[in-house]
Amino acid sequence: MDKPLGIGICGLGTVGQAVVRLLREEGDILARRAPRALKLAAFGLRRDKPGFDPGAVPVYRDMLAVARDPNVDVVVELMGGTDDAKALVELALTEGKAVVTANKALLSEHGDALFALATQQGVPLAYEASVAGGIPIIKALREGLAGNRIEWVAGIINGTSNFILTEMAGAGRPFADVLAEAQRLGYAEADPTFDVEGIDAAHKLSLLASLAFGVPIASAKVFSEGLSRVTPDDFRYAEAFGYRIKPLALARRRNAGLELRVHPALVPEKTLFAQVQGVQNAVMIGGHAVGPTLYVGAGAGGDATASAVVADLMDLARGTQHAMPPLAYRKEAQGGEAALPSTAFHSPAYLRIVAEDTPGVLAQVATILSSEGINIEALMQKAQDSTQEGETTCVPIVLLTRAADEAAIDRAITALEALPAVRGAVLRLRVEPFAAS
Ligand SMILES: NC(=O)c1ccc[n+]([C@@H]2O[C@H](COP(=O)([O-])OP(=O)(O)OC[C@H]3O[C@@H](n4cnc5c(N)ncnc54)[C@H](OP(=O)(O)O)[C@@H]3O)[C@@H](O)[C@H]2O)c1
Repeated sequence: MDKPLGIGICGLGTVGQAVVRLLREEGDILARRAPRALKLAAFGLRRDKPGFDPGAVPVYRDMLAVARDPNVDVVVELMGGTDDAKALVELALTEGKAVVTANKALLSEHGDALFALATQQGVPLAYEASVAGGIPIIKALREGLAGNRIEWVAGIINGTSNFILTEMAGAGRPFADVLAEAQRLGYAEADPTFDVEGIDAAHKLSLLASLAFGVPIASAKVFSEGLSRVTPDDFRYAEAFGYRIKPLALARRRNAGLELRVHPALVPEKTLFAQVQGVQNAVMIGGHAVGPTLYVGAGAGGDATASAVVADLMDLARGTQHAMPPLAYRKEAQGGEAALPSTAFHSPAYLRIVAEDTPGVLAQVATILSSEGINIEALMQKAQDSTQEGETTCVPIVLLTRAADEAAIDRAITALEALPAVRGAVLRLRVEPFAAS
């Protein structure tokens, strides 16, 4: 048996403690699966944690000391945040140690520099746990689908957003109510911005897109739109059209460049993707040879995330984890890899327009859309959902368009909102039919 792989874990919160539990409880099985045993060699713990017993493993208050400990072969960064975590990962790589991290915020902000450093040092920087928790999606992209040109990646990669939209759909409750419940249940943070505005999903999508398309990690270039404008009525209307509303993260290669976007979207209800409920995550990948493949599972939680962290450690123990990450793929990148602005996106749209219930309004709506070359796929006028504004009765007009350039849809929305009969803002949700992908 080779010398054990010395593991230094920095940050012993939800994920860190779950990793320690897994290594302690499943040590025998893990040892049989790799030529090197996994050995806990150091903990980085800035203060004692009630209920956590380090046993005989040395504890450092200074995280950087873990990276310098000669018994540590791999530093496992599970602290979160971007400043101290960056300093720790940089030091570990500089010391020639492998790094395993679950930190998508760190990688989306500093990943290019850190992967460059790892490559220069010839050491692995592994990050399976940073996207979709327990789902081995990095491995699927990097290894299982290595023979494919990746055409698109679509994900439900923020469990909080999926929980909120699932509850809104099932119970017909408004966004703010369900968000408050998600916070009570511990699914959403006190400040939910990262989740409900799509920032967390944009971080993860930028990592997936980098690997899929060989482009730099650029979460700032991911277009994102939050969930707060979706109402319970929209779920009913979408259902009547045969769709569900899901928190979609999409990276798609087009001739002109890459569409990188995170927003609520209508997806056909008969697709497996639409059936992914609650805090579950899913990632669907379209490869040119294999076609669409779907991966579903727990996207968060200590044990599920620990499963991914330990998978990276097992790769290191087997010597199968290389210093390859996105950089090796980068060399393959050819033209058309720039992120497109949202005006260049191309998809069908769902529009909800509230308008006076007077003759001729539908004709005006149709005229505006057709003047922008946008075809209507389906249309409903929901008289039963009418509202009264003084003497005037208003009704929602809900329609699906065929695929169109987003710039044309933007112009049509501006023109629709300028119609005297239209009240308030028009809601536009993008539609992802998948079949056309
Ligand atoms: N939880 C999940 O389901 C999940 C899923 C996927 C990925 N992740 C990622 O995994 C990482 C850890 O998440 P978590 O949920 O385990 O977080 P957590 O429960 O808040 O634990 C983080 C731990 O790191 C320590 N820590 C934080 N900043 C530190 C610093 N600057 N110096 C020293 N120690 C520091 C904290 O110490 P104190 O206790 O002293 O504050 C805490 O014990 C994050 O990057 C997160 O995005 C989490």
